[in-house]
Amino acid sequence: MKNKINYVDICCGLNWGDEAKGKIVSYLSKIGDYNFVCRWSGGNNAGHTIYKNGIKYKTHLIPSGIFYDIPSIIGPDCVVNVNAFFEEVNYLKSNGFNTNLIFISPKAHVVTKDHITEDKDKLFKTQGTTAKGIAPCYKDKYARKGLLAKNIPEFKDYLWDEKLYGNILCEGAQGFWLDINYGNYPYVTSSNTLPYGACSLGFPPQYIRHIYGATKIYDTRSGIDPFFPENLLEDKDLLLLVKVGEEFGTTTGRMRKTNWLNLDKLVDAVKISGTTMMLMSKVDVVKKINIYKLYHNASLINFENFDVMKTYIDKILKEKCPLLENITYSEKNELD
Ligand code: IMO
Ligand code: MG
Repeated sequence: MKNKINYVDICCGLNWGDEAKGKIVSYLSKIGDYNFVCRWSGGNNAGHTIYKNGIKYKTHLIPSGIFYDIPSIIGPDCVVNVNAFFEEVNYLKSNGFNTNLIFISPKAHVVTKDHITEDKDKLFKTQGTTAKGIAPCYKDKYARKGLLAKNIPEFKDYLWDEKLYGNILCEGAQGFWLDINYGNYPYVTSSNTLPYGACSLGFPPQYIRHIYGATKIYDTRSGIDPFFPENLLEDKDLLLLVKVGEEFGTTTGRMRKTNWLNLDKLVDAVKISGTTMMLMSKVDVVKKINIYKLYHNASLINFENFDVMKTYIDKILKEKCPLLENITYSEKNELD
């Protein structure tokens, strides 16, 4: 039935972005039965890496459903730069994907050249933003003087009819601690990264079935944040994580600041986001360097091996997060 929503699954990041959301969404697109895959927030500040048939693809704006021929929607609370959008459309087209399935909400806001210039000249320097014009665009949106996608002639063939039905998958961008309300303000992004933000796509919250929370077994941060001081890059074990984990930004190429998993933060993110299925990736990285540490109750704990650490994480999360149904640990290539 083309007018009835069946269920909505949401994948959100539980940390500071870069938690393999793209990979998880493309995996769910492959194995699931979705009619739509939708982005609900942000713009091309995101950097999602996915593998299909052993080939690596990167997207910044277009939902990962496109890799599995599922209509892919850029929602009304997203911001879209015209050039970046067409660059990505052409990239996907030249790789053989069906770009007729890409749609932009008429209500999405347009990131202009001036937004990008302002971001580059100011916020990039003080906050380490991705310099894609995100904050200046949302600033104009909330000042009610923004430019809407429906007013851009180049977007004419891509405008979404705003109808959702069947089974829907929502692809988060950024992460819980980059959220405009929950992050370490002003070291945040300018959008709602929590699952409730996905309702802006036009479905009631009662239809939400699973909330997939994406996390890593260690923490990373691209951009400036006093919670991740620069001297983290001087710690030789943490540098090992950067190298073995290949922690360089998909969007910016910058080396990510890396730290041991902060379990206190993770518990809060799982609880408040309403995560029902948690996926913790990059387990192979800590196994490879053979160091198992995390912060809990603000102190650093050292574990003998992965199994002991896993048992500890499982126990704390199960105790503190009543809505959490399932925890999956994953290693490289397991979700491809
Ligand atoms: P994905 O979807 C990691 C960070 C930036 C900066 C702050 C604000 O790939 O997980 P912005 O350009 O949004 O104004 O920058 O947020 N940031 C991300 N970090 N992954 C992302 O997206 C990010 N999007 C923004 O580094 O600190
Ligand atoms: Mg990223």
